[in-house]
Amino acid sequence: MNTSRRSFLATAGGTAAFTALSASRVRGANDTIRIGSIGLGGRGMGSADWFSKIKGVEITHLCDADSSTLDRAKKKYPNAKASQDLRKVIEDKDVDAVIVSTCNHWHVLASVWACQAGKDVYVEKPISHNIWEGRKLVEAARKYNRIVQGGTQQRSDDLQTEIKAFLDEGTIGKIKYARLNRFGMRGSIGKRDKPLVPPKTVDYNLWLGPAKDEPIYRDKFHYDWHWDWNAGNGELGNWGPHILDDCRNVVFRDRVKLPKRVISGGGRFLWDDAGTTPNTQFYYIETDEVPVVMAVHNLPRKAGQRADDIYMRRKTNGFLVIECEGGYYTGGRGGGAAYDADGKKIKGFNGDGGGKHAENFIKAVRSRNRAEQNAEIEEIHYSSAWCHLGNISYRLGAEYEREKAEAAIKGFQPWNDMLGDFHAHLDANGIDPAKADIKLGAALDIDAEKETFVGGGATPEALALLRREYREGFAVPENV
Ligand SMILES: NC(=O)c1ccc[n+]([C@@H]2O[C@H](COP(=O)([O-])OP(=O)(O)OC[C@H]3O[C@@H](n4cnc5c(N)ncnc54)[C@H](O)[C@@H]3O)[C@@H](O)[C@H]2O)c1
Repeated sequence: MNTSRRSFLATAGGTAAFTALSASRVRGANDTIRIGSIGLGGRGMGSADWFSKIKGVEITHLCDADSSTLDRAKKKYPNAKASQDLRKVIEDKDVDAVIVSTCNHWHVLASVWACQAGKDVYVEKPISHNIWEGRKLVEAARKYNRIVQGGTQQRSDDLQTEIKAFLDEGTIGKIKYARLNRFGMRGSIGKRDKPLVPPKTVDYNLWLGPAKDEPIYRDKFHYDWHWDWNAGNGELGNWGPHILDDCRNVVFRDRVKLPKRVISGGGRFLWDDAGTTPNTQFYYIETDEVPVVMAVHNLPRKAGQRADDIYMRRKTNGFLVIECEGGYYTGGRGGGAAYDADGKKIKGFNGDGGGKHAENFIKAVRSRNRAEQNAEIEEIHYSSAWCHLGNISYRLGAEYEREKAEAAIKGFQPWNDMLGDFHAHLDANGIDPAKADIKLGAALDIDAEKETFVGGGATPEALALLRREYREGFAVPENV
């Protein structure tokens, strides 16, 4: 038994901690970087493949709480050591870095443990399940001097640099505001009468980790945890981390850490399933610079149609729309275009969706230079926090009235437009707003330095949602 194993076991009953034993091995340009891949579902397998193609990188360790998933991964990487227990991977001195592609509720704890054990970390978006723990991960990265990268890969797409350069040229004038849209269909996750029994192949204690042990009523065990606050963060915490991160990078150049004020609302309509997160959401974000509005529409464009909604004002999916004084940019992953005030296309943009992001991480792992990272953990902590803030507002929601919602942000037409789109989306799906359970969330003022709420919105309920209660043995430590 090596010392790090002993140190973990010594504290296993309470909050686990690793000592930084294998920390700071200096890797030469030709040294192999040995990766432990934790969480091997859809994304984890994709990332393992991605990293394994980088010269000098090897997937040496595999981990998934589900042994059947692990068995599938072993077929692809027969020489890798495999374990259902992430602690075994994290404490192994032969691991240099881990990829964390588990469900969201595990991201921070797994990453903090890895930092404590001296590993570098590539952690999927959202990098946290709540704001408080996101900050703890930043603290761990600093304390143990680790390279920690967030999985918002578009940061490594030259497209973002090109859009910034184009905006700086001033051809379409100053930025007025950003409108973001996640328009993509999803469906019901079912609603069982009796709780779901987790598959026999899953080590449920390890899968649950920091989350509450409560019955699950959805039909499918994997993936649909996204739509349950206990493990996931809804669509705003699923696609939001990409889109809001693009916005923070392209529109604000990371100058704006946290918003000043947020308000969100919406609901989970039509499906009558076990999901608790909204499938339709509107979100206003006030900053020290320009405002941002974001809409989530998971229902079809029209009842009975198999098509995503469309952002009618710009006749696109409108992932990232940057409205300027003399035109606008609209685009998504992999490309976009800029238009003048008359709607004439001025310039097209193409990207690769962020294919070089893994390489960017490995480069920094070798150089130990945080400044080389395109998605250093602190920035992606902020972007993840932008999602969490919207969700907190939504979860504190009271009964919705359109006039009240309109009055919440006075004199800002894009907010009214977004509410109009929300009503049109309901209408297109045959939902009567007078009969639907629509929520208008709390307006929350934020102290960006302290990462907390201030003023009348800083109620005990709001403050409680900045963090969570952790299951015994799986608490993110106060002191990393
Ligand atoms: N960057 C991107 O473009 C992108 C794309 C898809 C998903 N993601 C992110 O990747 C993560 C995983 O998403 P997914 O779609 O693969 O979900 P998934 O449910 O398919 O996979 C999650 C896997 O993690 C495993 N797991 C859970 N707890 C574990 C633990 N303690 N130890 C080891 N394994 C554990 C599960 O058994 C499962 O196999 C999510 O956070 C998601 O937001 C990112």
